Amino acid sequence: MACLIDQPAARSDDVPLVLLHGFPMDGRVWDDVAAITSGHWRTLRPDFPGFGKSPAAPFTIDTLADDLRELLARLDALPAVVAGLSMGGYVALALARRHPRDLAGLALVDSRANADDATGQRKRDQMIKLAGRGGAAAVVEHMHPNMLAEATYSERPDIALRLRQIMLDTPAETIALASAAMRDRPDQQELLGQIDIPVAVIVGALDAITPPSVSEQMAQSIRGAELSVIPDAGHLSPIERPREVAAALDRLMVRAVGRR
Ligand code: MLT
Repeated sequence: MACLIDQPAARSDDVPLVLLHGFPMDGRVWDDVAAITSGHWRTLRPDFPGFGKSPAAPFTIDTLADDLRELLARLDALPAVVAGLSMGGYVALALARRHPRDLAGLALVDSRANADDATGQRKRDQMIKLAGRGGAAAVVEHMHPNMLAEATYSERPDIALRLRQIMLDTPAETIALASAAMRDRPDQQELLGQIDIPVAVIVGALDAITPPSVSEQMAQSIRGAELSVIPDAGHLSPIERPREVAAALDRLMVRAVGRR
């Protein structure tokens, strides 16, 4: 798994902040957040297999969590605070379920804990077919219009364009593999009540894919979780409102490591 690493000027031996990308994207969706958080925290942005700079390999959500743990161990980056955007949140929860002692804190960003229902699973199969027929371009045409808040498209076309390019760079085979992995992922709602580390739940107020009500419910299920609803952001709050997302992650880091 390839990994972008942004080091602060000092104290790089501290608990790192690991930012997991969503689908179909790579670590670049966290560029603006990492530019802020790396002022204080060693900030790592792994690319899952086949995404960004990582070579392709088959995976499930659980094997992504195991591989991530291995990568972080190799980088001497455990325990870590792990923030997962949407699909990255599924992996962050799998890490909390499978390797709880390796986590110092957790952030679920525009994500959810429940598995796909039958309709959701059918949509994944359609996505796999779409990627096979039309490649990443067809998938991007289908997905891109729902990712951001309406005003982001009209007032910040640069952001919409950046996101489109990141999505277009994801190979069709990776889109198919990730769709299957998400279709088959376990339900992780029961885990929420067992989490006993600092947690941040972050969501765009205008997120059309994982609406704020989903995040509110998750936050209620996790003891002591801090919910941040980011104004004027859709499903991609880290790229739409990086300052607000970085601030929420900063508060989580302070809770997790008790310094600043
Ligand atoms: C994502 O942004 O990672 C996706 O919306 C996750 C999903 O399709 O379930």
